[in-house]
Amino acid sequence: MSFYVTTPIYYVNDLPHVGHIYTTIVADTIARYRRLRGEDTYFITGTDEHGQNIEKAAAKRGVRPIELADEVVERYHQHWSRLGITHDDFIRTTEERHETGVHEIIRRIAEKGDFYVGRHEGYYCSSCETFYTEKELLEGDRCPVHETPCEKGAEENVFFRLSKYQDRLLELYEARPEFVRPESRLNEVKQFVAQGLRDLSVSRTTVDWGIPFPGHEGHTVYVWLDALTNYISVLGFGGEETELYHRHWAGDDATAVHVIGKDILRHHAIFWPAFLMAADLPLPKTVWAHGWWLRDDKKISKSAGGVVRPDYLIDRFGGDPLRFYLLRDMVFGQDASFSDEGFIERYNSDLANDVGNTTSRLVTLCRTAFDGHLPPAKGDGGGLDEVAAEKIEVYHRHMESYAFHDAIRAVFELLAETSQYLVTHEPWKKLKDAKKDDAARDEVSGVLWNCLESLRIVTCALLPFLPQRAPQVLAAIGAEVPENYENALTWGHQPTGAPLPEVQPLFPRIDKDAWIAEAKEQEMSDETNSPKEATKDDAKEPEKKVEPPADERIDIEQFFETVLTVGDVKAAEKVPKSNKLLQLTVDVGEADPRTVVAGIAKEYDAEDLVGKQVIVVTNLKPARLMGIESNGMVLAASEDGKPVLLHPEREVPAGTRVR
Ligand code: MSP
Repeated sequence: MSFYVTTPIYYVNDLPHVGHIYTTIVADTIARYRRLRGEDTYFITGTDEHGQNIEKAAAKRGVRPIELADEVVERYHQHWSRLGITHDDFIRTTEERHETGVHEIIRRIAEKGDFYVGRHEGYYCSSCETFYTEKELLEGDRCPVHETPCEKGAEENVFFRLSKYQDRLLELYEARPEFVRPESRLNEVKQFVAQGLRDLSVSRTTVDWGIPFPGHEGHTVYVWLDALTNYISVLGFGGEETELYHRHWAGDDATAVHVIGKDILRHHAIFWPAFLMAADLPLPKTVWAHGWWLRDDKKISKSAGGVVRPDYLIDRFGGDPLRFYLLRDMVFGQDASFSDEGFIERYNSDLANDVGNTTSRLVTLCRTAFDGHLPPAKGDGGGLDEVAAEKIEVYHRHMESYAFHDAIRAVFELLAETSQYLVTHEPWKKLKDAKKDDAARDEVSGVLWNCLESLRIVTCALLPFLPQRAPQVLAAIGAEVPENYENALTWGHQPTGAPLPEVQPLFPRIDKDAWIAEAKEQEMSDETNSPKEATKDDAKEPEKKVEPPADERIDIEQFFETVLTVGDVKAAEKVPKSNKLLQLTVDVGEADPRTVVAGIAKEYDAEDLVGKQVIVVTNLKPARLMGIESNGMVLAASEDGKPVLLHPEREVPAGTRVR
């Protein structure tokens, strides 16, 4: 059987954030699991590069759309490699092979007579690139997805006869309910279609940055007809090399699963099958719509604000802990809240404590009992073998239905049973006897081997979730990384007798308070240190100086709202438990000096700052950092993210205003 899994292709007017990362991790986990099951798996992701939004974003940056796209694509590649994403191909909609596929699907639909030219009127949301009717809008003119104002517009477009496919779509949902998952989303789609479908405008005359619409000069292809076709253009559809297309899309045993977020459900569950039906092409098996990662109850996104780019978590802990958190803490299909606290709690309890401590404990016990070696003989299973068989069956069931959190839970139940078994058998009480007495030696060997074997199975089952760390755990217990699941998840394969080196800490515990303070500070310095225009998106290309568009410049009164004052540093000390924070006592010309906490400890020694002058933002609301109330912020230039403090050019009295 062929198993084909896809992510949405991401817009290039945004850098990857937690939402994009999540969908891609999910698809990667599915692909890794399927490969381990020995299935002929193909996994793709890519970028959606055409349309008005990209055009606008590029214009704002003063670059051509393709330059913006190239730059963002590079960032996607970097992210995917750091997160261990194993896509087989990466499609860009600006590639020729994609345009070939789009032209072919259009040719087929046109041949059917399912296009006509008509006049279009509606309310356009440029974030979704979708027209809405008045009825669909929220509070007058707001987009139902982004809640931002839509623009009223009218245009002469090519239309697709979507309405003609209403009955066939309803039949599809009845006959193949697995076409849309989870079930709640299927019901939503059915209801929507049953209310009646309007024909869809599939060309634009107002957007230049797109694929030319064949036969309609001056029209470009509507981004969604363009973008959805990526799922087959990447396989060579319409081109000369169609082997992959036949193997993974059109073959009798081809199973295609599109993993998407619920925001783009209608496009995938209605438009896409209708386009395919019109073109007489096979349909995918399932469109799987997951929920949203939220922050403060709002979808995390660029247009809706509250962007979370968890790069700092990846920098600090590697990709696997983030993968694990995202997969374990979201019930696949529902919304979940993203938080640093949640991340750390999950990391400390499941990875540091359950996996990390169990591994080091077992290795230490074995090394003590058997002079730095694995147990000499296998155990009898001790009941753990049965628990393992049962939990692994549950694990497979959940993996097949994409209930990742439940699959992980089943595996951790086995791990908990293993710890319990260890505690019950107390092998540490017999370590000395094991050195001189055969019976004790056999007993300790059996108990420890049973635990190691159970841990080996747990770790193999975690391979799709922790692709970088699980192999390290296996190495630590002297087990091999399996190529597939043929034998890896069944009892009896843990080696015996081999040398067992001392274990290095695999998942060092995170000090939650220290980390939260550091993360807050990071967030604060992101928000306050960078001018509004110079977001991280812009920071990546310092050589291009882009003038902010006139309407986004601030006037002088707005600038003066920020009170900047010269201060004398009277005292400075490191904040305990933080390697980034210094606590400064600064005289800013008021009755009492202020306490200001600054994230500069890596670059400045406390004692060197005493007696120096700094520039302080003195009308900031107080913020608590590591339990200390900070009343102000010292200004620093940010050179490659490292602070360089600003001082007046010559000494002036403390309290002098900077303007
Ligand atoms: N380009 C279109 C998709 C075309 S597919 C033929 C698009 N791109 S996007 O860059 O906006 O990415 C959308 C996808 O990112 C969502 O469908 C979802 O998979 C993921 N997420 C973006 N924000 C998200 C959250 N806050 N939470 C979870 N995933 C979300 O739409």
